[in-house]
Amino acid sequence: MKKAISEYRTFFREFRQTFHTTGAIAPSGRVLARAVVKPLSCHQVPVRVLEVGSGTGAVSKEIVKQIRPGDWFDLVELNDRFVSTLRHRFATEPDFQRVADQCEVLHRAVQEVSTDTKYDYIICGVPFNNFPISLVKEILRHMSKLLRPGGTLSFFEYLWIRRFKSLLANRDERRRLGGVGVVIERYLSRYEFQCDTAWINFPPAMVHHLRVESSNKLESDGEPTARTIRAGQHYPPLRPGAPHSESHHARRGEAHR
Ligand SMILES: C[S@@+](CC[C@H](N)C(=O)[O-])C[C@H]1O[C@@H](n2cnc3c(N)ncnc32)[C@H](O)[C@@H]1O
Repeated sequence: MKKAISEYRTFFREFRQTFHTTGAIAPSGRVLARAVVKPLSCHQVPVRVLEVGSGTGAVSKEIVKQIRPGDWFDLVELNDRFVSTLRHRFATEPDFQRVADQCEVLHRAVQEVSTDTKYDYIICGVPFNNFPISLVKEILRHMSKLLRPGGTLSFFEYLWIRRFKSLLANRDERRRLGGVGVVIERYLSRYEFQCDTAWINFPPAMVHHLRVESSNKLESDGEPTARTIRAGQHYPPLRPGAPHSESHHARRGEAHR
């Protein structure tokens, strides 16, 4: 209990001081953390896992439970206070200690992680909706280079967040949010194979799982134009029949617009 309070306190302090990159008022709850880690639970052979934006380790805690002999787990985190918290957890908490010699905490931006190493699973928690469109594209492109062909990229977004922010935003901010939505939606329409909703979280969130067959494919995201952003239009899927079910798509579209 004491540990959880200290985790929340650290997170809330960073929310106030570095809102732009922290992007949330509290760490992910257990339901959300489990939902975003779900694809990892099926792995049979040794895998490499990358968590992007680990924060205080709410999702990492669920990932370390899935790490088996022969696996490797890298955590990349921008914020030095979060990095200290994560390293402390690997030194002191049994679930983390169990796999500490198969894990590394990298203190840097994900865009600076070398693409020489490829990962089977990338689990991302960065707050895309706080970033400029160009940064969202850069991070998604870079993660696509880090992903082994056929690997899985999972990330979450808080429900209705773009719509809610847009209500309070000026024209430039609405344009930025629209552009972020267009970029993300384009990736989802091509590569998402499953999405889940974590209602029991503050705020509730939608979890997306994408499978990318070739590491070049995610890179070919086009520029959203002023027209598509203004009109709130989405890019058409470039690969008709991309692996998503209609119900996923419909639920997701309703949730974010
Ligand atoms: C919404 S918090 C998520 C924290 C944690 N994954 C969770 O679910 O509770 C976003 C995290 O992403 C980190 N972050 C933001 N931009 C990043 C970047 N470019 N590279 C690595 N980490 C980043 C922030 O410092 C913050 O810890």
